[in-house]
Amino acid sequence: MAENETDGTRRDFLFISTAAVGVVGAGAAVWPLVDQMNPDASAQALASIEVDLDPIEEGQAITAMWRGKPIFIRHRTAAEVEQAKDVQITDLPDDQARLLGTTKSLPATDENLTKGDDNEKWLVLVGICTHLGCIPKGQRLGDTKGEFNGWFCPCHGSHYDTAGRIRKGPAPENMAVPPYDFVSPTKIKIG
Ligand code: FES
Repeated sequence: MAENETDGTRRDFLFISTAAVGVVGAGAAVWPLVDQMNPDASAQALASIEVDLDPIEEGQAITAMWRGKPIFIRHRTAAEVEQAKDVQITDLPDDQARLLGTTKSLPATDENLTKGDDNEKWLVLVGICTHLGCIPKGQRLGDTKGEFNGWFCPCHGSHYDTAGRIRKGPAPENMAVPPYDFVSPTKIKIG
């Protein structure tokens, strides 16, 4: 089983790498090799990525790579959004929104974990379990999503909800939200 899971993870990463290259855009594709090898340019390229959300249908999720980390991007269904909003903050093992790149201390409400309003259906997370750093399952169709319909980390049994918050198991914190913004209604820039 573990071998299949590993293979599946690799396939996901291959898919994602392809997608990530695809979202860089035509301008970047024509950079000569010498520019790609320039450390400054290289570091800059890794600092942020743009992801086109248009192909991601409701109920689907993709994984992008940003600064060497898997980024989960889920187009949540209305039911998943409601499920996330219905949770009482006092029921959360970790009541803090883990927002990378900010010192703000905010409660882990769905509103604080997303961009709200028209964009509340989009959930963007660093896809790393906060227990020991495994990559939770729940991205691919047919994956188990755990008891709270979000993600499940089979390494030691951590269950995350539809806002990426830890609900059961040994993980001490909610999954983190990377810094990102919408640069158009269907495109985000991460980093
Ligand atoms: Fe996820 Fe242990 S690494 S539960």
